Amino acid sequence: MNNKYIGVFDSGMGGLTVVKSIVETMPDENIIYFGDTAHVPYGTRSKEQITEYVLNDVKFLNTFDIKAIVIACNTADSIAREKVEALYDLPVFGVVGPASKKAAETTRNNKIGIIATNATVNSGAYEKNINRFNPEAEVISVACPLLVPLVEEGRFKKGDKVIEKVLTEYLTPLKEQGIDTLVLGCTHYPLLYDIIADIMPEVNIISSSVAAAEVLKKELCDSNMLSNNSGSSRKYFVSDNAEYFEGLAKIFMGDLGGTVEHVEI
Ligand code: DGL
Repeated sequence: MNNKYIGVFDSGMGGLTVVKSIVETMPDENIIYFGDTAHVPYGTRSKEQITEYVLNDVKFLNTFDIKAIVIACNTADSIAREKVEALYDLPVFGVVGPASKKAAETTRNNKIGIIATNATVNSGAYEKNINRFNPEAEVISVACPLLVPLVEEGRFKKGDKVIEKVLTEYLTPLKEQGIDTLVLGCTHYPLLYDIIADIMPEVNIISSSVAAAEVLKKELCDSNMLSNNSGSSRKYFVSDNAEYFEGLAKIFMGDLGGTVEHVEI
């Protein structure tokens, strides 16, 4: 049993989809969340720049009494995970490994599509991980650089013509290739789930956020690190406008269960 905080971070509000899944599966865990909203998006930046941001994010989370680090960002997980593991003597959880395993086990025709940021696609992290679990799988990746800025602008609701058009364009090549499984390889994308499901009704959609929370729960349980609190304490920090973040976050999460504060890191 361990009642310390789980430290979760992302470039912006995408990591809240991981928080949402953690709260749904482990309602009694204490969570510290950091969204680096001053620097979002990470996915179009260089490896060096992403690594620098990630190390600052983790340094901030580590100022709290945390029991684990959750990299709630596929871009950060693909690029800088090894650095984080090397620097901190804490269990580090990510999103790419859990989503890859689930996709590898779900596909029936061995054609898996990935939608993700440029940095995640260019890293090849999904291909490597999926082929570890299923060497036969063909992985077709599409970089979707417009999606994160649109989500951060609140353009994630069904009926929004702009996001629907952009998604149709990104998903059409995957449809044409006949994938039967699609990984939402960016934690911002679960906010677009309903629109994606309408465009690709015949495909199994794997959310990296849901997969990450499932693995986190199992690992914490196996290592006897789940909390025995009743209820959870949650604190949210962002590097840019806290009010803006809180407003958008409430639209899709409902009650955040904690305060949002701006911090300079
Ligand atoms: N939500 C993130 C991811 O999972 C980051 C997107 C970005 O900042 O570009 O990749």
